[in-house]
Amino acid sequence: MSSPKYQSSKGTHDILPDDHLYFSFIKKVVRHRCREAGFRRISTPMFENVDVFTHSLGEATDIVEKEMFVFESKSGKRMALRPEGTAGAVRAYLQHGMHQLPQPVELYYFEPFFRYSRPQKGRYRQFHQLGFEVIGEQDPAVDAQIIYLAHKINQDLGIADRLKLQINTIGGPEDRKKFHEDLVNFYTGKERSLCADCQKRLHKNPLRLLDCKEEDCQILASMAPKFDHVMSEETKEHYQLVKEFLDELKVPYEENPQLVRGLDYYTHTVFEFWSQQDGAQNATGGGGRYDGLVELMGGQPTPAMGYAAGVERTIEYMKEAGIRPPNKDRIQIFVAQLGHIAKKRSLSLLNELREHGLNTVGSAGKGSIKSQMRMADRLQAHYSLILGQIEVQEGTIILRDMDKGSQETVPIDGIVDMVVDKLGGKKLKNRTLWEE
Ligand code: HAM
Repeated sequence: MSSPKYQSSKGTHDILPDDHLYFSFIKKVVRHRCREAGFRRISTPMFENVDVFTHSLGEATDIVEKEMFVFESKSGKRMALRPEGTAGAVRAYLQHGMHQLPQPVELYYFEPFFRYSRPQKGRYRQFHQLGFEVIGEQDPAVDAQIIYLAHKINQDLGIADRLKLQINTIGGPEDRKKFHEDLVNFYTGKERSLCADCQKRLHKNPLRLLDCKEEDCQILASMAPKFDHVMSEETKEHYQLVKEFLDELKVPYEENPQLVRGLDYYTHTVFEFWSQQDGAQNATGGGGRYDGLVELMGGQPTPAMGYAAGVERTIEYMKEAGIRPPNKDRIQIFVAQLGHIAKKRSLSLLNELREHGLNTVGSAGKGSIKSQMRMADRLQAHYSLILGQIEVQEGTIILRDMDKGSQETVPIDGIVDMVVDKLGGKKLKNRTLWEE
């Protein structure tokens, strides 16, 4: 068959039902763990005034320089599809007066994001992140708790063993100013050994030279001055406490003085979860402190810390680890019918079964019983209920066990309770969605 005329655009993908099993499972784990820790869900718009992102992420970052989908609204305003969630969360925190709530405010999200990056494995133009932010608390215990929460979610999803946690501190603004000077002094005269991107970054954002993936840049980075020479006592103490708390929480980590992250808003603790195989190339997630961002966005000085993970990358790791989430879509009962009266009766039976919380599909067409059974097989239903004209007249129904291939004729009254029992489920009558 020739390929269809229309295809999803480059770097985007359809999430097909099989992948939604992963999405639903991950979302459930995130919701469960976040709620347990007092976080509440937030969604910000998919597009915002471009300044929300350029101002917070930093003009010289890859995301702002190359990866944002920017467009002009009909009224001439420059807008951008959100490339990440922290800037929008902080904008919402300020816009809705959340600074007046008891602090810290703990928010989580599970949303699509957009970056115009070169599509490759694990890198898309539309992707999803799960993320959380704690705004309004400076204590290093928050850093450790956020990292613990991320680690716990990785554990729940069965991928923690495939990841190594990298941590570092990039200090406060004063430390960084001194460090920038040291780096610029070190790299001046060596520009020709740097890649084109790093040559541009040298004066705007020299810290980024430390985590460039180009080989020559990495060699130079390994010889560059180290941050611990300029680190203030306060920075050292904060970092020391984060490590102590992580030890206490038994979260394994590796210190990585080269880890700087790609966004300008970070201060102090930064961290990433790297793949055991591909290292930094395919981090599932990362985050850190951003103590200056609320103020930068127009609020009072307010410390904050957060994390986000790529959902598609997380799914790839789950698949590599052979993890299959539970299939909540699995059809439990198939209702087959033959003849007008049987079809009429089957309609209310279908609803009754569904009201009892059973995933039930009925054949709506006029196919033969044989073709309806083939459909039940394809759907992998546990049981089929078969209703013909004779059964309706006699008040019976045929119950077929699809795995065993055996069947029996039973009274139609009480059939719902019977299949609920057989499926080992508790009786869900009068179940309401409010109880979920
Ligand atoms: P980030 O490191 O830019 O951090 O993104 C977090 C994760 O999103 C990455 O580790 C990756 O798994 C996923 N991701 C990023 N870009 C793509 C892409 N093009 N395709 C697929 N997955 C991608 C942030 O976004 C920060 N806002 C995290 C944060 C929250 N820091 C503090 N709070």
